[in-house]
Amino acid sequence: MIEKIHTLFFMKKIIFGTRQIGWPPSYKACPLEKAAEILSYSFQKGIRSFDSAPIYGNGKSEAILWDFISKNGLRDEVEIITKFGFSLEKNGTSIFDFRPAGIQKQLEESLSRLKTDYIDMYLLHIPQKTLNIGEILGTLNTLKREWKILSYGLCNTYGKQLQEFLAHRESHIEYIEDFYNILERKAEKLIFPYLQKQKFLAYGPLYRGFLTDIDIKILLEKQEDGIKRLLKHDGLPWLLRQRKILEEVAKRKNTSLEKLALEFLEKSDTVESIIFGTTNKEHLDIFLKNLKPS
Ligand SMILES: NC(=O)c1ccc[n+]([C@@H]2O[C@H](COP(=O)([O-])OP(=O)(O)OC[C@H]3O[C@@H](n4cnc5c(N)ncnc54)[C@H](OP(=O)(O)O)[C@@H]3O)[C@@H](O)[C@H]2O)c1
Repeated sequence: MIEKIHTLFFMKKIIFGTRQIGWPPSYKACPLEKAAEILSYSFQKGIRSFDSAPIYGNGKSEAILWDFISKNGLRDEVEIITKFGFSLEKNGTSIFDFRPAGIQKQLEESLSRLKTDYIDMYLLHIPQKTLNIGEILGTLNTLKREWKILSYGLCNTYGKQLQEFLAHRESHIEYIEDFYNILERKAEKLIFPYLQKQKFLAYGPLYRGFLTDIDIKILLEKQEDGIKRLLKHDGLPWLLRQRKILEEVAKRKNTSLEKLALEFLEKSDTVESIIFGTTNKEHLDIFLKNLKPS
C-alpha cells in the first residue's frame, strides 16, 4: 500500500528528511508547531516515508516525528527510517559505537523516543575505517529476527568497505543511502558498481539548497554555522562555478536549476528513492512540482 501511494504520482519514492526540523545548531531551530505543520503537509501530499537519526537534534527529530505519527494514529501507514552508530555527547563531541551492545542500546533509545516497537529501515549512519563487519551484521540479523527492525542498510559507505559488507555471508543489506545529486557524483564510482539487489536512496537532491534559485548570500546567511561549514568543506568556489554552469544549461533548456537537478535524479536507473528535507511548505510544493514529469 505504502509503495503504491509513493509511486502513484512520481517516478521515484519520495522520503521526507527530518534533519532540518530537529538539528540546531546546524540548522536554525525549527519551532515545534512549524515542524508538526510541515510533517502533516508532507503526509497530505502523499509522502509516507520519513528519514530520521538520533543525531538530528540529539533525539529531537525522532521525538517530533513520533508526536506527529501518534497524534494522528499513523504508525501503520508510514515507514520510519532511523540510524545507528553516530551520536553526540552533551558537550557536542561525536561518539561512534558499533558494538553489539551499543547498537542494541541505540535501537532501544530510538524505539523509546519514537514510541514504537519496530523500525522499518535501520541504517548504519557514518562508518569508521575499521569495523567488525561480521559482528555488526550478526547484531542486525538478530534484531531483524526479533522484529525490532524490518530491514537494514548502510549510509556513507564506499568502495572496499562497501564491497566487504555486501559480500559478507551474514549480509542481508537491502538499502544504501548516500549523498547524490547532479553535482555530487562520487556514488557512481564508489557505490553503484557494487550494488547487487540493494535499493539506492539519494539524499541531498538540491545540494543543501544550493541547486535552487536562492541567492547564495541568503543561503549562507539563512542557515546557522553547520550549513556554511558543509559548503565550505565541499569547496565553495568550485560549487559556485558549477552552479553557474548549471544555471546556463538550465537557461538554454528553458527550465530552472531545481528542475534540471531533479530531472537528473528522476532519470537515474539506480536511484530508487529521493530524500528531501525542508521546513517550508512552499519549498515542498516547488520540489514536488519540479519532480513531476512534465
Ligand atoms: N544518511 C545521511 O548521512 C544523511 C546526511 C544528510 C542528509 N540526510 C537526509 O537527507 C535529508 C535532506 O538532505 P539535505 O538537507 O542534505 O538536502 P536537500 O534536500 O538537497 O536540501 C535541503 C535544504 O534546501 C533548502 N531548500 C529546499 N528547497 C528550497 C528552495 N526552493 N529555495 C531555497 N532553499 C530551499 C531547505 O531549506 P528550507 O528549510 O528553507 O526549505 C533545506 O535546508 C535530510 O533531512 C536527512 O533526512 C541523510
